[in-house]
Amino acid sequence: MYNESQFKNNLVKWFEKNQRQMPWRETKNPYYIWLSEVMLQQTQVKTVIDYYHKFVNRFPTITDLSNAHEDEVLKYWEGLGYYSRARNFHTAIKDVAMNYNGEVPNDPERFGELKGVGPYTQAAVMSIAFNLPLATVDGNVFRVWSRLNNDHRDTKLQTTRKAFEKELEIYVQEDSGTFNQAMMELGALICTPKNALCMFCPVQEHCEAFEQGTVEQLPVKTTKVKKKHIKKNVYIVSNENGDLLIEKRTQKLLNNMWEFPMYEAESNENINTQLSTEIQFQTKPVYSLKHQFTHLTWDIDVYLSQSYVRQQDITLTDNMVWMRVNDKDEYNFPVSMSKIYNFLLTNI
Ligand code: ADE
Repeated sequence: MYNESQFKNNLVKWFEKNQRQMPWRETKNPYYIWLSEVMLQQTQVKTVIDYYHKFVNRFPTITDLSNAHEDEVLKYWEGLGYYSRARNFHTAIKDVAMNYNGEVPNDPERFGELKGVGPYTQAAVMSIAFNLPLATVDGNVFRVWSRLNNDHRDTKLQTTRKAFEKELEIYVQEDSGTFNQAMMELGALICTPKNALCMFCPVQEHCEAFEQGTVEQLPVKTTKVKKKHIKKNVYIVSNENGDLLIEKRTQKLLNNMWEFPMYEAESNENINTQLSTEIQFQTKPVYSLKHQFTHLTWDIDVYLSQSYVRQQDITLTDNMVWMRVNDKDEYNFPVSMSKIYNFLLTNI
């Protein structure tokens, strides 16, 4: 095999010269580093930067965040998606405020017990904030490490993750934060899923997949199960003042967020069973869109009521309110509903 210290050296030197500037790379505050790692799961760096700044400005300390109401925390997450990340992070921060005197524990085991902290977050925060010897294995690292070793094991298996963490241990005995970030940065900038830039790779001479011509075949991921599609109908109802009817979700998915009344198509459930008066809707949707979650997709059709509804003519359920058109920012909406709102503003 190749010389391990030469490999690490080449990689880290490249990283120090070529890394992208990110605000969380300018700090050693474990709370900020943790926040950035939570935001970066499932979301790209360029999207996260703006959210990160706003979040840190509003909740500059663990005490500030632990005292905040969940609705406000979600408001600062609006648009990033995967809201359970924000809820879990908020819960974990309250735990830290209460039980750790407001200091992020620098013990991997204790940190790993906090809500929402899985092996990736644990390794990332412990290494970047405290230089503790844990290897981060995220999608980038799976790709980089599979290729470097021409390793065709299935990266969807827990046993492969464990094996990678173990193999990487020797590199994280010192400067683990830098090494881990260098691996991820290499995956993001050079060792990309398609059209990898092998000609510019600082560790090309250590790469067995490059030598064997198998870069494009790696990493191996068992074919994903096809996502379930659910058809949803969204109903837009306005009143005599032009206010829009919205409803607070009580389901686990996107819990407590607001939406225009939405029901599963082809089910008995529809808006007329929810509201006491019949509302006539146009027969054709005015707008259609998809909303992707990790395990499922909503295929949404949006229907407009044929005319406005007088407030006195309908009885709202407990979770429904009339929203003034200009007050949207006072509610937490998932991205799909914001898209519908924007469509209505510009087209209706
Ligand atoms: N992806 C997630 N966290 C990262 C980090 N700290 N550096 C580079 N890529 C990342």
